[in-house]
Amino acid sequence: MADAFIYGSSVEGENFTDRETETKRLKANFEHGVNTLLISNRRIGKTSLVRHVKNQVNAKKVSVVYLDIFDCRSEYDFYNKLATAVLRQTASKMDVLMQNIKTFLGRVSPKISVSPDPTMDFSLSLGITPKEYAPEQILNLAEIIAQKQGKRIVVCIDEFQQIGEFPDSVTVQKRLRGAWQLQQNVSYCLFGSKKHLMTNMFQNKSMPFFQFGDAIFLGVIPVKKWVPFICEKFKKHGLSIHEEFAARISDEVEGYSSYVQQLAWLVMLKTESVVTKEIVDAAVNELIAQNTALFMQQTEGLTSYQMNMLRALASGVHDGFLSKEVMDEFRLGTKSNISKVKKILIDRDLVEVRENGLYISDPVFQMWFRKYCL
Ligand SMILES: Nc1ncnc2c1ncn2[C@@H]1O[C@H](COP(=O)(O)OP(=O)(O)O)[C@@H](O)[C@H]1O
Ligand SMILES: [Mg+2]
Repeated sequence: MADAFIYGSSVEGENFTDRETETKRLKANFEHGVNTLLISNRRIGKTSLVRHVKNQVNAKKVSVVYLDIFDCRSEYDFYNKLATAVLRQTASKMDVLMQNIKTFLGRVSPKISVSPDPTMDFSLSLGITPKEYAPEQILNLAEIIAQKQGKRIVVCIDEFQQIGEFPDSVTVQKRLRGAWQLQQNVSYCLFGSKKHLMTNMFQNKSMPFFQFGDAIFLGVIPVKKWVPFICEKFKKHGLSIHEEFAARISDEVEGYSSYVQQLAWLVMLKTESVVTKEIVDAAVNELIAQNTALFMQQTEGLTSYQMNMLRALASGVHDGFLSKEVMDEFRLGTKSNISKVKKILIDRDLVEVRENGLYISDPVFQMWFRKYCL
C-alpha cells in the first residue's frame, strides 16, 4: 500500500490526474518557444505539471532543463545552479558533459564526485565566481548550447520567487530579463509557490519581469476528476468507496490537490472493507490535527486585528470591511488599519483576493481556524 496516495512530493504516472488543458497549453509553449509563468498556491501541482509536460515533449527537438532554486541566496548562487543544470541536462553522457564544460566554461575548475552507484549519479560543482564570468556569459550558456545542438531548450525554474529575495534583486531581475528576451532558441518556464511574490514580480508594471510570458494560474482539480481517481485507487487495494464519499473527500478540502490525496490516504488507512460516513468524519478531524502545528506557527505573532480579520473571513464575510456593521462586529480597528491588516495577511499568503472578495487561502487552515479560533 506504500504508494496508494501521495501528498508529499510531486506526482507522476498513476498518481497524476487531470490537467489535460494545462498540459496541452504548456506543451505547446515548450515546443514553440513561448515563455511561461506558472502561478498557484503551494501544493496545487505546479512541479508535477511541469515534470509531466517534460516527459511528453519531443526529446529530439526540445531539451527540458529543470532546476529548483529554493536554496539560492544570491545572484552567483543562482548562476552556479543554472549553469550546472543546463550543462548536465543537455549532455547525454559523462564525456559529453566534460567536453561541454571545457568548451563553454573553460575558465572554471569543476569538482565532480562520482558515486559508485551504477545509475551514474554524481555531483557537480562548478565554482563560478564574478572573477571568471560576467552574468551575461552564464545567462547565455543555454542559448549557445541550443545553437550548437540544433535543438530548442526550455529552462524551467522552480521556486523562482526566491530571486526576489536576493540582495539588489531588481538589478538582477533586469539582467535576467535583458539577456533572456534576446534569445532565439531558449525559452523559460518560471514558477513558484509564494503566490503574492510571484504575482508582484510578473504583474507589477514597474518590475523587470512584467508580462514576460504566458501566465497560467493553476487552479484546483475538479471533483469530477477526483472521484474516479479516488475510487480507482480504493478498488486497486481491494477496498470499496461510494462515489458520494469520494466526492466528499474532494469537497471538504475544496479540491486542493495535496489535501485531497492526504485526506483520501487517511480514509484508506481507517478502512477495512467499505468506507462509511464515520470513517470520513474521523479522517477529516485527523487531517486538521496533522496540520495543526503548522497552522499554529502561521498564526503565531498575529495581532488581534489580524486575527479578527481572519475571523470575519472564516465567518463568511468577504467584502464590505469598511462598513460600520462589519467594522464593529469584528472589531477591525480604523479604516486605514484595515488596509494594512489585509496587506500583511496577503503578504503571508494566509489570505487571497478572489473574484468576489477576500478569502482564506488554505481550506484546511480555514477548517482549523473555525474549530479553534472562532
Ligand atoms: N495532477 C495531479 N494529480 C493528482 N495529485 C496531484 C496533482 N498535482 C498535484 N497533486 C498533489 O499535490 C501534491 C503537491 O504537488 P506539487 O506538484 O509538488 O505542487 P506544487 O509544486 O504546486 O507545490 C502532490 O504530492 C499530490 O498529492
Ligand atoms: Mg513545487
